[in-house]
Order: sequence, then C-alpha cells, then structure tokens
Amino acid sequence: MSFQAPKGTFDWMPPRSERVLAVRDALSAPARRAGYGYIETPAFEDTGLFSRGVGESTDIVTKEMYTFVDKGGRSITLRPEGTASVVRAVLEHGLPGGPLPVKLWYSGSYYRYERAQKGRYRHFSQVGAEAIGTEDPAVDAELIVLAVDGYAALGLTGVRLLLNSLGCAECRPAYRAALQDFLRGLDLDEQTRQRIEINPLRVLDDKRPEVQAQLAGAPLVTDHLCGACKAYHEEVRTLLTAAGVTYTDDPRLVRGLDYYTRTTFEFLHDGLGSQSAVGGGGRYDGLSEMIGGPPLPSVGWALGVDRTVLAMEAEGLFDAQPATVDVFAVPLGEEARRAVFGLVVALRRAGLSADMAFGGRGVKGAMKAADRSGARFALILGDRDLAAGAVQVKDLTTAEQTAVPIAEVADVLKGKLS
Ligand code: HAM
Repeated sequence: MSFQAPKGTFDWMPPRSERVLAVRDALSAPARRAGYGYIETPAFEDTGLFSRGVGESTDIVTKEMYTFVDKGGRSITLRPEGTASVVRAVLEHGLPGGPLPVKLWYSGSYYRYERAQKGRYRHFSQVGAEAIGTEDPAVDAELIVLAVDGYAALGLTGVRLLLNSLGCAECRPAYRAALQDFLRGLDLDEQTRQRIEINPLRVLDDKRPEVQAQLAGAPLVTDHLCGACKAYHEEVRTLLTAAGVTYTDDPRLVRGLDYYTRTTFEFLHDGLGSQSAVGGGGRYDGLSEMIGGPPLPSVGWALGVDRTVLAMEAEGLFDAQPATVDVFAVPLGEEARRAVFGLVVALRRAGLSADMAFGGRGVKGAMKAADRSGARFALILGDRDLAAGAVQVKDLTTAEQTAVPIAEVADVLKGKLS
C-alpha cells in the first residue's frame, strides 16, 4: 500500500524547499528589526475562536474549516489563519495591561478546506505580523512598509499594493444598508441573495463575470466614510507616500474575513494566475471584543510563503541549483572512513558546511555524490594520504587538486571560501 500527500497539500523537498526558508526569513526580517517579538501559538484552537473571530458568515467558517471533536468532546479547529489566535494569546497573557501596541510576528502552517489549484492549497504557510492595542495611522503605515520592504528584500519587483478603508462601527452600517438596497435590485441567484442579507460586502468580491457586470454602479465604501475614518485613511496614505510606497486606491477591495475595520490592503502578483494575492491584512478594531476581550484596536498582515515562492520563481529570482554544502569528503578505504568522519565533524565545528559519502560506495560513486552535492570542494582521503597526515583538496569547479595537512585543512578551506 502506498500513500500520497492528501489532496490540496504537497511536500516542499530539497533543494526547492530552501526557497521556503529564504522567503520566511526575508519576510519576517523587517518586522524583527522594527521591534516585533516572535509568537508561536497552537496549530489548533477552540472552534468558537474562529467562528466568532473570523465571522460566522465567511467562506472560511462556513466551508473551509478543518473541525473535529477531540477525545474530550471539545470542538477543535485547525487554525485557518493566525490573527484570532494571536489576539486570544495576548488577552490570555494579560498583555493589554502593559505597554501598547503589543507587536508580534509569527510564521507557521494554516489549514483551509479550499478548492485546490495552483497557489491555493489546503495546507499553506504564512508569515504574519500584528500590532495590538493602538489606534494610530502610523502603525498601519509601519506594517505596510514592513511588508513592502520584505518583498523588496527578496528582489520581487512585480508586487502591487491595493489599499482601501472599510470604515468603522459608526459609518459601516449606513454603507452596508446602501449597498444592500443596491444589491437587492440586481438579478442574482438565491445563494447570493442570501449573502446580501448576511454579508453584503462579500458580494462585491464575487468573481463571476455576470455578477461583476451588474456591480458597476454599486455604492463605494469610500463615499460613506465618517469624518474620523476619512481623516485616518488620509493620514495612512500620506505616511505611505512619504515612505516611498506606491499603492493603488481600490474602493472595491473587501477581504475574506469579517473582522476588518478601516485600513485594508492586499498585495498582488501578476505572475501567479488567478490566486494572485501574495499577502493581505488590515485593521481589526473590533476583534478583541468579538472574542470576549476589551476594546483593543489593532492592525496586522499575513503574507503567503508558498505564493511568494511561486512569485519569485515567476520572476526567475532563484539559482537553478543552490549549493547545500561547501565541502564534500570522500574516504578511500575503511581506515580513511573513520578519519574522514572525524574530519567532517571538526570542519562543521569550525563553522564550515560539510558532508561526506556514506554507505561504503566505490570511489566512482562517492565522487559522483560529491559532484551532485553542489559542494565547491571535495576532500579525498586515502590510506597513503592518511599515513602522510594530509588530505587531497579538490576544487570541483576547476578540478585542481592539492595535498593539505589535515591539521590545516579547516583554515585552508575557510581561506579559499571567503
Ligand atoms: P488572508 O488574506 O486570508 O489573510 O491570507 C493571507 C495570505 O495567505 C494570502 O494573501 C495568501 O498569500 C495566503 N493564503 C491564504 N489562503 C491560502 C491558500 N489556501 N493557499 C495558499 N496561500 C494562501 C489572513 O489570513 C489574515 N489573518 C491576515 C491578517 C493578519 N489580517 C490582519 N492581520
């Protein structure tokens, strides 16, 4: 019997998996430099956290959650996103009593039972950052700049930023009502009609051409913002422009999660086909209260690691075959094997990346393994070398070979590699 990864999931395998590490590192580095601390939360939570936090009427909650009853009879859900968990942890640890905002970043696996296609998986990875407990347009702008800088550090040039404001508890109800009035007059199927009553903003995000065609005259949220939301949004835009960030105002941008208020944004890449969002986020001033906490105005984002790798591949930003180690050692004979093992351990402890031929292959097989490893240098050790206290250092790019005393090999290699 053989198994395959479940539908909608896949394995990141070397050498391509190195790209995942590089992307995670680069996307989180700007946040780390800006004082965001690392948070790790469980991969599963009480189901209620997501149904209340993400929103009962969202696709995520109604269709996409991996929910099960555990052996203790609790309803548990594999996290479909990170923000609700982070806010839950901040409340649970009493952090709102301390200095605000609480700035946190995270990285991990998320689970959504989505229709699988390129760029849309049932298990995927995000890097996220959240600034919790402060209402200040500078925090919104800070987070957007951090994401922009993360993509730029990876060399990506094709990421576009869409920006919108969804208003607040003051002005959203009037907009919602105006939108519902408009939508009720359209020719829509029964399911969409139900959506108008529950979550009308999501109808704007309907991708079907026959729906989009009817939405041309829909009221725009930006025309319904209250004075405070307008001023707040204007300040975010001013700060972004001052920081050299290019963005497109998109009054139709709605997000797939219900907790958003005011600033919302999405990063798109055109090299990915239909799943073009490489990241997204926004302000969620009401989320804490939705899950039983005090008012805690907050903002954050999550960037898709898998899709960012795809975007980089679309831009041709990776080397074809990244080297895995600098040095690959080949023993010729049993006694040499023991010496090579010790030498490789010593080289690693000296800070070099080194591997060796395992499994008692012949010289030919071992040299092939050295070539395949992508290493710059091969170390070849036979009985005669061993008697002379030396090892052959072969430059695998030039095929040049020299004997180096074993005691000096770490320093010699470090010199050659620097
Ligand atoms: P989201 O827009 O649902 O937001 O996800 C953020 C990013 O995760 C997306 O832009 C995409 O790159 C990636 N992503 C989402 N679903 C999938 C999937 N099925 N397969 C591959 N990649 C995917 C959130 O999750 C919010 N928690 C963001 C946030 C943080 N808002 C405020 N703070």
